[in-house]
Amino acid sequence: MKKKTGKSICLFSGKGGVGKTHLALCLAGIYSTMGKKVLVLDMDLSGGGVALYVNKPYEKTIYNFVDDYTNNRFKSLEDYVIPYNEFIDILPSPKDPRSALKIDSKYVEIAIEKSCVHYDVVLIDMNHDLNEVNLTILDTVHTILFVMQNDPMDLKNMKSMLSIFHDLEKDNYKILLNNSRDPFKKYFTLFDMKNILKANIDYVLSSEFYLKNIDSYIMNGKIVTLEAKAPNIFNKDYTVMMKICVDLLGKEEENGKV
Ligand SMILES: Nc1ncnc2c1ncn2[C@@H]1O[C@H](COP(=O)(O)OP(=O)(O)OP(=O)(O)O)[C@@H](O)[C@H]1O
Ligand SMILES: [Mg+2]
Repeated sequence: MKKKTGKSICLFSGKGGVGKTHLALCLAGIYSTMGKKVLVLDMDLSGGGVALYVNKPYEKTIYNFVDDYTNNRFKSLEDYVIPYNEFIDILPSPKDPRSALKIDSKYVEIAIEKSCVHYDVVLIDMNHDLNEVNLTILDTVHTILFVMQNDPMDLKNMKSMLSIFHDLEKDNYKILLNNSRDPFKKYFTLFDMKNILKANIDYVLSSEFYLKNIDSYIMNGKIVTLEAKAPNIFNKDYTVMMKICVDLLGKEEENGKV
């Protein structure tokens, strides 16, 4: 029996290391403070780090979900997720990177669809390859959050992505410029970047959200946005992330695509 479906959102980028995984968890933290039930689905199949970021032990992964589903052993999504807190669950990427090659993209759509039945928000972390699995995710989700840095390589690849989306007449995306990942990257002005991309940059996270001690958060399995002081310390950037969460949640009646 299918129920009301939640909203699926993936984080994608033109190049690696722009801060997607960290941001996925920051957004999950904010959604949880909004009382939304969130699944962070780690679809970075060969090198995912969501379970590491929250420092949680786990047995089952998306690989087991697909394997069980294929072999008629699947019972419930619950059997594969790790609870982080009352609102956030994690579905980790495969333990063995070679398993990435065994995951057929058709099961990706099923995983997203099943997740949307149980969660208000499904945040999908990915790597930046344009492979079959990632193309399926981009095609399936309600909204794509493109994450980029102020960097020539990133601009080039983001421009290519946007032209592909333009050709496909797809506009279900938002663009986030993440200046917090590397505060020293500030080669272009916002005006230049919009001009190069011929697109709006919807959100900007400032260099003030650069966390010198990010590794200690990871070692302790802490989500920054769930820290009591976060809304005050990171005031401006916390507000930007709140806005992203509210925007991407969309209107209730728009939910249910997947
Ligand atoms: N706001 C920040 N402050 C300090 N370090 C950060 C910040 N955001 C991300 N990082 C660090 O930058 C690196 C890349 O971040 P992250 O893993 O989130 O990027 P990614 O886009 O998911 O990378 P990949 O494409 O490899 O999956 C990590 O070492 C992370 O800890
Ligand atoms: Mg990542």
